[in-house]
Order: sequence, then structure tokens, then C-alpha cells
Amino acid sequence: GNRKDNTTRITFPLMLSVGTAVIGSLQFGYNTGVINAPQKIIEKFINETYFERYQEPISKTTLTAIWSVAVSIFSVGGIVGSFSVGLFVNRFGRRNSMLMANVLAFIAAALMGFSKIAHSWEMLIVGRFVVGLYSGLSTGFVPMYVGEISPTALRGALGTFHQLGIVVGILIAQVFGMEAIMGNDDLWPLLLGFIFILALIQCILLPLCPKSPRFLLINRNEENKAKAVLKKLRGTTDVSSDMQEMKEESRQMMREKKVTIPELFRSHLYRQPLLIAVVLQLSQQLSGINAVFYYSTRIFEKAGVEQPVYATIGAGVVNTAFTVVSLFIVERAGRRSLHMLGLLGMAVSAVLMTIAMALLDQLKWMSYLSIVAIFAFVAFFELGPGPIPWFIVAELFSQGPRPSAFAVAGFSNWTANFIVGMTFQYVEELCGPYVFIIFTVLLLFFLVFTYFKVPETKGRTFDEITAGFRQTAATGGEKNSPEELNSLGADSPL
Ligand code: GLC
Repeated sequence: GNRKDNTTRITFPLMLSVGTAVIGSLQFGYNTGVINAPQKIIEKFINETYFERYQEPISKTTLTAIWSVAVSIFSVGGIVGSFSVGLFVNRFGRRNSMLMANVLAFIAAALMGFSKIAHSWEMLIVGRFVVGLYSGLSTGFVPMYVGEISPTALRGALGTFHQLGIVVGILIAQVFGMEAIMGNDDLWPLLLGFIFILALIQCILLPLCPKSPRFLLINRNEENKAKAVLKKLRGTTDVSSDMQEMKEESRQMMREKKVTIPELFRSHLYRQPLLIAVVLQLSQQLSGINAVFYYSTRIFEKAGVEQPVYATIGAGVVNTAFTVVSLFIVERAGRRSLHMLGLLGMAVSAVLMTIAMALLDQLKWMSYLSIVAIFAFVAFFELGPGPIPWFIVAELFSQGPRPSAFAVAGFSNWTANFIVGMTFQYVEELCGPYVFIIFTVLLLFFLVFTYFKVPETKGRTFDEITAGFRQTAATGGEKNSPEELNSLGADSPL
């Protein structure tokens, strides 16, 4: 109706705010991808440092252990950070929380950037932890702020910029990690310390961005300030419909009280959506995607690819391209079907990858098949399992339980991320070329789960979706198929 008239404008203040916020997503992606290409070079540094200290060469076990910790402690920081989002956002506001978090990025940049001069791999490890904290906080702050400043009609499209920021960050890290740029003995500290510049840019731009109008009105009850911010964001003086909607949300929130994390687990009302939210996070991480983004250079090397770093960058390009594809089709194809297509495609690709790796000794051209298989694996990931779990949490819960649901979902995501990062190298040593069969089995499990449990949320209001879950809970839950859930939602009088 007439609400849409003045709310679909993409104004400069809106784009500035979204663009500045997703520097946080970019940091997350950058640090996900950055330790991939220079693995050997940094391992050499660890080796030399070890020799200096103990006058003997490092054992392979110790080196693998130190490297695995350096890679995966990032996700430990992410676990802690994502779980702490609630401590900041209501106290300091969304924008100022993002601003404050940059202290962590500066500290991390210094620790990692000076680790070589200081002959300390410990500084590298601590720096990875601290930037993990920053990234975990970002996975909460960014989608929340972007969602709250976006006009309703653009919320989905702008929300996808979070995943886009992540994948572009990964790509930049891969390019910078090339030997000719910064992935060499002299410049790798600069490669890791580069996040300093991103943090600086965000600190300069954030004060120019408005505070979240929803935070101003709903949490602070500052109606005039909220109105002023909205006028800037929407590029119009008539923001009455936006204000009305926010006041409605505020009333909803007072009616539906804040749900704490223990309450979220106890209430049978939230059992179904919570299960779905958590399993979808697990499906994103246990798909094995970060085995590729943390270790692809090594995987390609083992697969006999001659220029593994270029293949890694190729994976980053495919990753970015298919995130854009998903952005354009997700409102038409729907979440459920895209997620299933993505999981199935990844499972098939993982089988291809296994075949390629297993036959490599007999057939040299198998290394090409492995490249194709990994690219396909990544492409299918970004169609569904990449972007969808991040934004579906908001769709599965109403205002009251949503913040707690985000904390639990973030925690599950980062924990699974950690497990894959930490164990992949070991499991790979045990299973050799068959390591991706484990992911195939998991992918098929998630496919079956999605088929039976995940309802389509496309084009439905939050009310309709939660009404569907309320009905399921009332009728004893478990038995309802997603189709029934869908029709319950659609027929709901709400
Ligand atoms: C998702 C995942 C992240 C992964 C990325 C790859 O954002 O959460 O862990 O590295 O996709 O594109």
C-alpha cells in the first residue's frame, strides 16, 4: 500500500551506513581467508623461531598443533564474541557498539603485525583470538544494525550485504596473500596487520552514520531523534508510516516480553524454530566449507594442482559470484528449496572431489576434476547454505525471543566452525583422500532434515511464520510436515 511509496528509496545516508557497517563483515571474511595462502611461509617462521629458542628443529606434530591452534582460535574468539552481543547492543546502542569493537581490531592488528619482529608465534595466536572476538561481535552487530535502518521493502536485499561483505573479505585476503603481493617472508606481518586500515576506515565513517532509529525509539524512547534519523535515511520529511510501524513494534515488544536464553530452551513454543535455527547453522559449517577456505591451498597442492594459490583465488571468485546469484534468486526460489539444492549440490561435489583425489596417482588429469569439484562445492554453498542460515533466524522468531535466538544460533555456528578448523588437518591425515566423505554424509543428513523440518519462509510475515509454529506446538509438534506448517501459516487469520 502507500507505506511502500517512500520507503524503497536507496539514499546516500542509507548506503553509507550499510557500507560502513559491513566493513565488520569484511573483517570477518578477511580473517577467515587470510591464513590460507601463506600457511607455508608462516610455518617457516614458526619453525625458525622454534629453532632459535630450543636449538632443535620443530617436530611435525608440534608444528601442526601450533598451526591448527593459530587457525582455529579465531573461531574460539568468535564463539565468545557472538555470545556476548547482547551485553553491548542495548546498553551502548548498535552503532556505538560497532565503534567500540574496533578497539579489538586495533589490538589484534598490532599483535599479529609485530609477531615476527618479536619472534613470537604466541602473539600471532592471541591476535587471532582477539580478531575472532571482533568478528563474533560483528556477526551480531552488523545484521542487527542493517536490519534496523533498512526500509521494510529493502530489508532482505540489504541484509544479504552481510554475506557479500564476508565473501569479498575472503577474496581480498586471498589476493593479498599471493606471494607477489604480501604472502612472502618479508610482508606477511603486513598482510595480517592490514586489518588496522579497515578498522581505521570504519572508525572514521561510523560517526557519520546515524544511530539505529529503532534503538532510539524502542530502547531509548527518544522519539524526536528517531524521527530526525529516519528523515535522513529515507530522504523524505514524511516518515510517519515508518514511525507508526516502529511504535507498533515497540508495543509488540512490551506485550511479548524479552525471552532469556534458558527460557528459550524451556518453552515448548520455541522448540521447533530453535531446532531449525541451530541445525541450519550446523548445516552451514559442517558442510565443510571452511575446510576449503582455511585449507584449500593445501588441498589443491595434494590434488596435484600446480598453482594452488591461483586455484584458491578462483574459489574466492566463484564464491563471490554465486553469493550475488543467490541475492537475485532467493526471493523467487525460496529459502527451503535453495538450501536443499545447495546441500545436494555440495554432496555431489564432495563425492567428485573424493574420486578425483583417490585416482590422482593413476590419472594425472584428475587434478583438474578436483578444481572443478571444489569450485562447484563452493558455488552450491553460496546458493543456499552460505547466506540463508544467517538471515533465517530473524524470520523464525518474533521480537521477544529474537535476540536470544541470535546468541544461540551464533554460538552454534562458531562452535561448529571451530570444530572443523581444529580437526580437519588431523582427520585428513587419518582418512587421506576420503576425508570429504564425512562431509557428504553430514550434507545428506542436513538435506533430509531440511526436507522434513524446515518450512518455507519466503514472502510470509513474521507473524504468519510464528503462528505456524504456535499451531504445531499446540497440536503436539513433531508430526507436522513443512507443508502443513506452510498452510497453517498461510491460513492463519493474522
Ligand atoms: C559463511 C560462513 C563462514 C564462511 C563463509 C564462506 O559466511 O559463516 O564461516 O567462511 O560463509 O563464504
